[in-house]
Amino acid sequence: MSPMAGVSDSPGRIMSRRYGADFSFTEFGSADFIASSHPDTLKLYRFTEEERPIVFQIFGSDAHSIRLAVQKLRPLDPDRLDLNMGCSVNRVAMKGAGAGLLRNPEEAGRLVEVMRKQSGLPVSAKIRLGWDDQKRNYLEVGRILQDSGACALSVHGRTASQGYRGQADHQPLRELTSALSIPVFGNGDLQNYEQAMDLIRGNALAGALLGRASIGNPFVFSPSRHILPTEKIEAARHHLELSLSFHGYRGLFVFRKHLSRYLDFLAPEMRKEYLTEVDAVALERSLATLQERLNGVGKAATA
Ligand SMILES: Cc1cc2nc3c(=O)[nH]c(=O)nc-3n(C[C@H](O)[C@H](O)[C@H](O)COP(=O)(O)O)c2cc1C
Repeated sequence: MSPMAGVSDSPGRIMSRRYGADFSFTEFGSADFIASSHPDTLKLYRFTEEERPIVFQIFGSDAHSIRLAVQKLRPLDPDRLDLNMGCSVNRVAMKGAGAGLLRNPEEAGRLVEVMRKQSGLPVSAKIRLGWDDQKRNYLEVGRILQDSGACALSVHGRTASQGYRGQADHQPLRELTSALSIPVFGNGDLQNYEQAMDLIRGNALAGALLGRASIGNPFVFSPSRHILPTEKIEAARHHLELSLSFHGYRGLFVFRKHLSRYLDFLAPEMRKEYLTEVDAVALERSLATLQERLNGVGKAATA
């Protein structure tokens, strides 16, 4: 599961691992906030053993705060660290962090070295193709990161200035896998398992990251098949339970991002009832009732 702020939290990662994802990425956290022990930011890095292998992603542009952040995170015993070089939102990129580092790849290389040396762990990076169409410097960035000791590279096939517009361009992946010796992961607009596998095979990738297609749809990490509504509700109930136990009451609202997709077999007006429920226990109960009703329908149909 591709790292996604507000989505790839511990419950989201557990679901993705249970349904077939090979490893977990945390949401990105600010190195400054980690360094100053901001509790909400440190919570991003709480995980359970079943999420392993787990990659902790951080963003920042300053070697000092990156070093302090890594010192704080290291005792939590992640399997790998990742430097975010893909976030294009202004408050991150304009400060030289996230995709802003694509404009300063030498500095990104130094940050990877700091992360490696400070942690003693493998360190990867997640990039975009470049800052804009005039500067698609993915090859230069890839080489610098590899020379700095990065263990792997994930590539979202858009430029920073594109945001999420247009289609992801996966052509550069082949160039990257030919030019680099480190594993490359492809990312962007993959809708299902088969598309991911085709991308992997067609470009000699080490793997692929699925982001938005996995929201409320952990089934995407396994070969496509028809998923029964009862299976979707079973997964949704489980996800809700994990979300409430991890976040407390707030977990209801975090979980809503996933619920709409889990209930995609319902008509929009029926779905709305579940999506607007503010009582967690009531939502748990109504999902259980829905599942019982659907199980009953299934049994009646097979009787
Ligand atoms: C809600 C949301 C939050 C995201 N947060 C992160 C993040 O924390 N770190 C990161 O590297 N990318 C983040 N991304 C980018 C995704 O990891 C991924 O690169 C992008 O969505 C393209 O893949 P997709 O088409 O499979 O969604 C985020 C994307 C979305 C939609």
